Amino acid sequence: MTRPTDTGTNRTGLDTAPVQAREILQTVPEQHSEAVPGEQLEMARIRQSYMQDAEVIGTVPPPASMKGAATTAKEMLKGNKPSVFIDKLGERLAFERSGVRLYDAVLTKFDTVGSWDGGPSREELNHIRDEELAHFKMVTDAMERLGADPTSMTPSADLAAVESAGVMQAITDPRTSLPEALHALLIAERADVDGWSMLIDLAENAGQTGLADDFRKAHQREEEHARKVKNWVAGAISGDMARQLSGEQEQRSPRSS
Ligand SMILES: [Fe+2]
Ligand SMILES: [Fe+2]
Repeated sequence: MTRPTDTGTNRTGLDTAPVQAREILQTVPEQHSEAVPGEQLEMARIRQSYMQDAEVIGTVPPPASMKGAATTAKEMLKGNKPSVFIDKLGERLAFERSGVRLYDAVLTKFDTVGSWDGGPSREELNHIRDEELAHFKMVTDAMERLGADPTSMTPSADLAAVESAGVMQAITDPRTSLPEALHALLIAERADVDGWSMLIDLAENAGQTGLADDFRKAHQREEEHARKVKNWVAGAISGDMARQLSGEQEQRSPRSS
């Protein structure tokens, strides 16, 4: 079976067509800092015109319940901007929901292609998936307690969903291996760790010390997720490397004898 790290018929590099490569390089400006004329400049102009006319991604909905309104008003009196907190809670909620879906997709890959020596077990992946779900529920409860609507898509939630779309694409691509899917997942887990860390600071600034304590526990779990996924990815890469090195030695032995 072909492995992604095997040498194959990859023809993407310039070395596969040296004559055409020389022709192409003649059209490239000598200084990389020079503005590239033509299409790329036009692309930048179009992007700029969209940016100038664009509105914000969205806004934060007002608190729905009386209890929420009272809490919000209280926090406003303390000089906090609760809508910032609600926006970021919405972001974490969206991210944790996406996290569950990412692990569901990884589990489908696991069930189809299996793991490797030192790789994750199904139970380990499923355990992390359930923790993502528990975090999603924790943020849902927090938003409800603050009178915010957890079903609303806040601007930062919208942004988080777009950001993680590439990770989902990489995991669900039928051609990616389990280590490659975990490599994509590592992007989400690293961002998750920082997301929780920032949310702890916001909760403390908003005077929500109870929530900050809950978020600290989630942050610890997320650090553990990121560490495990990184170790699986690193283990797979060094395993591939060791296999190739031992393969080279096997080929060399007959020649040197
Ligand atoms: Fe998470
Ligand atoms: Fe996680």
